[in-house]
Amino acid sequence: MRTARTVAHANIALSKYWGKADAANNLPAVSSLSLTLDGLRTTTTVSFDASLDSDQVILNGAAIGGRPLERVIDLLDHVRGKAGIREKARVESENNFPTAAGLASSSSGFAALSFAAVQAAGLNLTRRQISAIARRSSASAARSLWGGYVALHARSEYAEPIAPAEHLPLIMLVVVTAQGAKKTSSTEGMKHTQDTSPYYSAWVEACAPQMFEEIRRAILERDIERVGLAAEHSAMAMHASMLAACPPLRYFAPATLAVLDRVLEIRASGLLAFATMDAGPNVKVITSPEHVDRVENALRELPMASVVIRCSAGPDAQALEVN
Ligand code: PMV
Repeated sequence: MRTARTVAHANIALSKYWGKADAANNLPAVSSLSLTLDGLRTTTTVSFDASLDSDQVILNGAAIGGRPLERVIDLLDHVRGKAGIREKARVESENNFPTAAGLASSSSGFAALSFAAVQAAGLNLTRRQISAIARRSSASAARSLWGGYVALHARSEYAEPIAPAEHLPLIMLVVVTAQGAKKTSSTEGMKHTQDTSPYYSAWVEACAPQMFEEIRRAILERDIERVGLAAEHSAMAMHASMLAACPPLRYFAPATLAVLDRVLEIRASGLLAFATMDAGPNVKVITSPEHVDRVENALRELPMASVVIRCSAGPDAQALEVN
């Protein structure tokens, strides 16, 4: 029996990925750029064990089944194939934040799982190769192998670091408006948008590439205001492509709109505050270390924003134990 325990941090895209160039291989249609966060973490242990007849997966203390289990087994099969082993695995994973509510649990989850499975299988792979394994299950997970600012290019197999965390200290306030699992998974939502939204081509051909380039440059030039404005634009353009799908795909809840309005008010008061959202109703607010206390206080005045998780840039995924 061989066991490995790893930790990976969730990332939130500043420049969003939505849509697949190749669904079978899970290659993204657009380039994306994210910040890995210190506050949202998944710790995963994988043990390949000859005495098991099937893979067992425990997430936050409870056994999982259905589609989430199939996705984990798929990844384990891929790693077993590469390593030439047949043993089934026991997987135990813990998130320190709500799972599947648009808080990017799949990014840290599949990054930690890929890393632990590779180590437990005894494979000696580069971080890029592990990023490519994570990408097959969740493209955003490819980015969580690295800390700081990380890009995943359109049609690329693996992500790459763009700048370390210290290059541009930026804070993300994760405003939790709902703790339940989301209704439409990102994979289903992307397919539906690609199949039915007349705005999807504008997103892929114009919006996403322009925003990626603007955000990449603004990060390199250490300009939080430009990063924030373009990140907000990227998130809203992505959601606009979903809203134009038929029937419309809408992740906004009333509480989401209240938080988005509050972000505009905070900005009008002269503070740096910009909103981004993923495939769920929660809002992440981008701000600077100088402004964060005032921005957080103003957000907490809203009754629906009772849970606010303050995050700065997080580290690379790490192996904690292999034996
Ligand atoms: O990688 P997935 O399937 O979890 O999709 C992530 C999609 C978004 O979170 C909405 C955007 C992104 O780039 O992370």
